[in-house]
Amino acid sequence: MKVGYVQNAPVFGEKEKNFNQIRELLKGVKADLLVLPELFATGYTFMSEDEARELGETKDGKTAKFLKELSNETGATIVGGFVELDGQNIYNSSLIVSKGGVIDTYRKIHLFNKEKLWFTPGDKPLKVYDINGSKIGVMICFDWIFSEVIRTLALEGAQVIAHPCNLVMPYCQNAMITHCLENRVFDVTANRVGSEKRGEDDFTFTGGSQITSFDGQVLSSAPSNAPYVSVIDIDEKKSENKMINKYNDIFKDRRTEFYKF
Ligand code: ACM
Repeated sequence: MKVGYVQNAPVFGEKEKNFNQIRELLKGVKADLLVLPELFATGYTFMSEDEARELGETKDGKTAKFLKELSNETGATIVGGFVELDGQNIYNSSLIVSKGGVIDTYRKIHLFNKEKLWFTPGDKPLKVYDINGSKIGVMICFDWIFSEVIRTLALEGAQVIAHPCNLVMPYCQNAMITHCLENRVFDVTANRVGSEKRGEDDFTFTGGSQITSFDGQVLSSAPSNAPYVSVIDIDEKKSENKMINKYNDIFKDRRTEFYKF
């Protein structure tokens, strides 16, 4: 299958401008799976709950409409971040969109830093989507540091992890090499670039979007400071083989009786 990412440089609060940048970056691109960054259309650095609510949408809002169009144009299943409103709750979510329709939303379960001040922690189970025969698991940014997340998705049969990000620390890209290796899954981490200085926060996002193979190879790596698109071919079925040599199946060899959690 053809999998890829878009690394964009959003302007805070300028959804139309940010949609247009993604449209330009994806001109002529065809793929089976495309991953966009966390909060790719709004920007990241909110200063209040009201501000997050103001930029929020339901799963039938204009970000969903944009992604539905994009899925038709590219032929791809698209996973990309948005601020999800549901009743009084505000979630840091990703839309999962395929063939012009919204399949689901994933709500980030591990909130980072001040996200805890405006977002509600995700309340839906980690889930693997069977899309055209490929098994896609979804997590968002800081979820990566909890190895239970990728492990759970891998145990549930994920072949490819779609991972929208707004990374501000330098660790994730290297960590994904180990996470992919220890679960024998592929990962597509889509990060953003640029800086946001708002209120008392001043974040620089680290780019370096990355596609990592089930055997720990980095198959694609974006620059740290510029928008970028990459689409590559992978054989996602290779992740179904959990043998790392003739004697070790990394899932069957687990000794769960010794693990506390
Ligand atoms: C993050 O979770 N956006 C660092």
